[in-house]
Amino acid sequence: MTLAYFNGKIVEVKEPVIPIDERGHQFGDGVYEVIRFYNKKPFMMKEHLERLYASAKVIKLAIGSELAELEKAMLELVEKSGLEDASLYIQVTRGVAPRNHLFPQCPASISMTVKPSRPISEAVRQQGVKVLLLEDERWKNCYIKSLNLLPNVLAKQEAYEQNCFEAVLVRDGFITEGSSSNFFIVKDGSIQTAPLTNYILPGITRIAVKAIAEQLSIPFIEKSFSPEELFAADEAFLTSTNCEVLAVTVANNCLIGNGQPGGISKKLFAQLQEKTK
Ligand code: PDD
Repeated sequence: MTLAYFNGKIVEVKEPVIPIDERGHQFGDGVYEVIRFYNKKPFMMKEHLERLYASAKVIKLAIGSELAELEKAMLELVEKSGLEDASLYIQVTRGVAPRNHLFPQCPASISMTVKPSRPISEAVRQQGVKVLLLEDERWKNCYIKSLNLLPNVLAKQEAYEQNCFEAVLVRDGFITEGSSSNFFIVKDGSIQTAPLTNYILPGITRIAVKAIAEQLSIPFIEKSFSPEELFAADEAFLTSTNCEVLAVTVANNCLIGNGQPGGISKKLFAQLQEKTK
């Protein structure tokens, strides 16, 4: 069953537990993470927790719980849910205080939900997905996993309305990442993706894919590329906790490669599946 958590209490997801003055709700003043559980086992939990603490640190938010304590609460919640394959979302905000832009003197709020994971269907995997290129209208600190997702939400909706699975964002003529994923091309046997700068989220699945590429001796180049380089690529794919490795076969109605999921994308996905078994 699905379960939720708010400041130490386990509740039903539908229970109204977030106070109206909660800063995540009023300001988006917080950070979050998504962790996938496969057969009850968390995948790269340490990396996700470290990124959560890193994001909180940049926005000067004291989480107030030690990493190990938070990890325990997460594991307990998933255990209680009884779910084997689950997605756990955790949000940490600057707490509950009367509305004022200035930082309040109150403890952080921690909320979580655990729901069954929603794997990409086999049919979608077989076909690959379409993406739409859009201007990256986000701020300059996209390396923070911030709760402020309005530009991401608008981009994803625009993509959806144009029959695309994901919006791929372009800043100053170069592709940064997807609205909720990292983005990659394959050209002449090498994988290429945007470097880790403040303009992209340092994806955890990106770390896993980089390690797999190294194991398979596939060159992994961290260098920005343009939409034209995407259109001329042999393959493209995106990565995220939710999509894992997902082949992209069409971008702005242009076929990528032969319009079928590419061999390297398939290999990376197969290897990732081995790691999550
Ligand atoms: N999104 N870039 C952005 C903007 C993202 O929102 C995400 C993840 C990623 C991939 O990161 P990771 O591999 O650590 O999941 C890249 C999650 C899944 C979400 O918001 O639901």
